[in-house]
Amino acid sequence: MYSGQVAIVSGGLGDIGRAIAFEFARRGASVAVGDLREPKAASGLLAELESHGARVRYDRVDVTDSAAVNAWVSAVEAALGAPSLVVPNAAVVTLGQALEFEPAAWARELRVNLDGAFHLAQAAARRLRDLKRAGRIVFVGSWAGHAPHTSIPAYCAAKAGLRMLMKCLAAELAPHGILVNEVAPGWVDAGLSGRLFDANPGSREAARARVPVGRLIEAAEVARQVAHLCDPENRHITGSVLLMDGGLSLVAPASSARGKAEA
Ligand SMILES: NC(=O)c1ccc[n+]([C@@H]2O[C@H](COP(=O)([O-])OP(=O)(O)OC[C@H]3O[C@@H](n4cnc5c(N)ncnc54)[C@H](O)[C@@H]3O)[C@@H](O)[C@H]2O)c1
Repeated sequence: MYSGQVAIVSGGLGDIGRAIAFEFARRGASVAVGDLREPKAASGLLAELESHGARVRYDRVDVTDSAAVNAWVSAVEAALGAPSLVVPNAAVVTLGQALEFEPAAWARELRVNLDGAFHLAQAAARRLRDLKRAGRIVFVGSWAGHAPHTSIPAYCAAKAGLRMLMKCLAAELAPHGILVNEVAPGWVDAGLSGRLFDANPGSREAARARVPVGRLIEAAEVARQVAHLCDPENRHITGSVLLMDGGLSLVAPASSARGKAEA
């Protein structure tokens, strides 16, 4: 379905990023993955992606560094072609209520989760515009972008900012044939939340019990929705939030400090 297309995924060594890379490879795209770790940490992932027949590339890149992100996008274009399926996915989360939050932790979180996503979207969209090529940008947001969680205020603020960035870019880029959307998961049983569940006995079951549909999301389900928004047959969906929180937003109180597994 995506043969001839090049996907680029930041935070691609994380649980959801890996699943997104697999999903694009499975659907025939070439896949470029970037993350903070040394290239040897990506060898297993790259081998698996190649087993799907995908052309692949890994770069060590810090998304907070806009020059590095621009260089990454250029290197991917030279090796695989200009990325047309763009997924700003890298993120971090810091626990702590607002009054106790360290300024450096606050700044770091916004730099990775918001600025980093902007750097990748901007670099890739500029190239697509210059090449007069269509494309898709899918931000990996969160239900925390609209539901306040008092234990992760910087994460919530960054994800809320990401949502407005998504909308501004969707409006700006629509005339260029670049559609921009957000997938907003609730509690995923992997990655940021998965590690917090692992570290806090009983929290996984407690979280599951709070979700109206009675289950947590798997990383692969998030990946399928990211790929779905990139479907070439989707030619009218832009500026949208695909909320996949199992109904959490329908029932969760507006302000929540209910534990340590809320990313
Ligand atoms: N896990 C969840 O429950 C959940 C829920 C909603 C949204 N999300 C979102 O899903 C996305 C992926 O998160 P995950 O759960 O897979 O977490 P994860 O920690 O497994 O993956 C995040 C990846 O981002 C990378 N990263 C961090 N800072 C970076 C930087 N400066 N430059 C480049 N890479 C960097 C990390 O090394 C890591 O590999 C994030 O945007 C997160 O906010 C996760």
